[in-house]
Amino acid sequence: MSGSMKSSIETMLEILQEKAQKGIVFDILNVYQRLTLDVITRTAFGIQTDVQTNTKSSTLRAAKLVFVTPYRDAMTFLGLSLPILRKFCMGVQDFISILLNKGQKPFIMLRRGIRKVMEMRRNNPKTKKNDLLQLMLDSSVAVSGDVDVSTLEAGNAELETAGSEGSVRMHFDHLHEIMFTNRYALEDVQYEDIHIPKGTLIQAPVYLMHHDPDFWSEPEIFDPERFSTKPNSEGITYLPFGVGPRNCLGMRFAQLEAKLALANMVYKFHIKLDEKHNDNLEILCRIRTLTPAKVRVKLEPRNEGN
Ligand code: HEM
Repeated sequence: MSGSMKSSIETMLEILQEKAQKGIVFDILNVYQRLTLDVITRTAFGIQTDVQTNTKSSTLRAAKLVFVTPYRDAMTFLGLSLPILRKFCMGVQDFISILLNKGQKPFIMLRRGIRKVMEMRRNNPKTKKNDLLQLMLDSSVAVSGDVDVSTLEAGNAELETAGSEGSVRMHFDHLHEIMFTNRYALEDVQYEDIHIPKGTLIQAPVYLMHHDPDFWSEPEIFDPERFSTKPNSEGITYLPFGVGPRNCLGMRFAQLEAKLALANMVYKFHIKLDEKHNDNLEILCRIRTLTPAKVRVKLEPRNEGN
């Protein structure tokens, strides 16, 4: 391991070591969430935070609030079902998140942090680093007439594409939609007996596809090898990172991080599921993510030879 990712994983291992020594049962999802936030803030946005070591970190609080809204939330339901109420519903959700985030809109707070780093990098070449943010900053200077990535920031970002025919501005509303495996029908489509009118937003039911017995044998059984083997049928049946030219830009990065974190953890500890844990994980369906409610485990340090 090397670089920022290594140092974030080492911090996680120290936290786990402490928990293993104390022999306590804890929610490992929470530890992973803090690790992934630490890695992304360091590597993509060049910001060093205390999200792993400080459970009261304001960055951690803001980032969690961005992802917390449940799919079944009344405001989300209303906003999606009645587009006329969409702005109002988003306003109510914003208001609640501002209250929970102690007076600041979580998106704006995170964006401000990134902006500061961007200004620092632009104004002082000595602060340049070899990371994703620098790549985006450099390409925004080098490539004229292409996407101005300096306007692509987390949260209420505006993505501006300056082309020969003028400028197309996309607000966060649109960015939000392209971050998921959603596609708009650009024209009327007839798929077998289903008519899809132009402009319809189609969302791929990823969770259902990954749990469909037509595609995968015994899909509810925990089987770490499942997606390494071929599905029961042909076609696109595995798409955690989307598919096509707009699939996930960070796929390899995310997979590398997950593998490194898991390999290091398994190398150092035996992982035991808490006895009180229900057999089935409770899955929470948020508007931006799908996560288990809690994954309660206990770790035992591995001695040499076991
Ligand atoms: C386990 C972690 C991750 C998962 C499951 C995931 C999943 C996805 C999915 C499903 C999409 C939509 C793809 C589509 O519509 O076909 C997407 C898009 C995207 N992801 Fe990820 N992602 C992950 C981590 C990351 C990371 C770490 C980064 C950045 C370093 C990243 C950057 C992006 C970007 C920029 C897009 C938009 C691509 C485009 O529209 O062209 N993702 N991701």
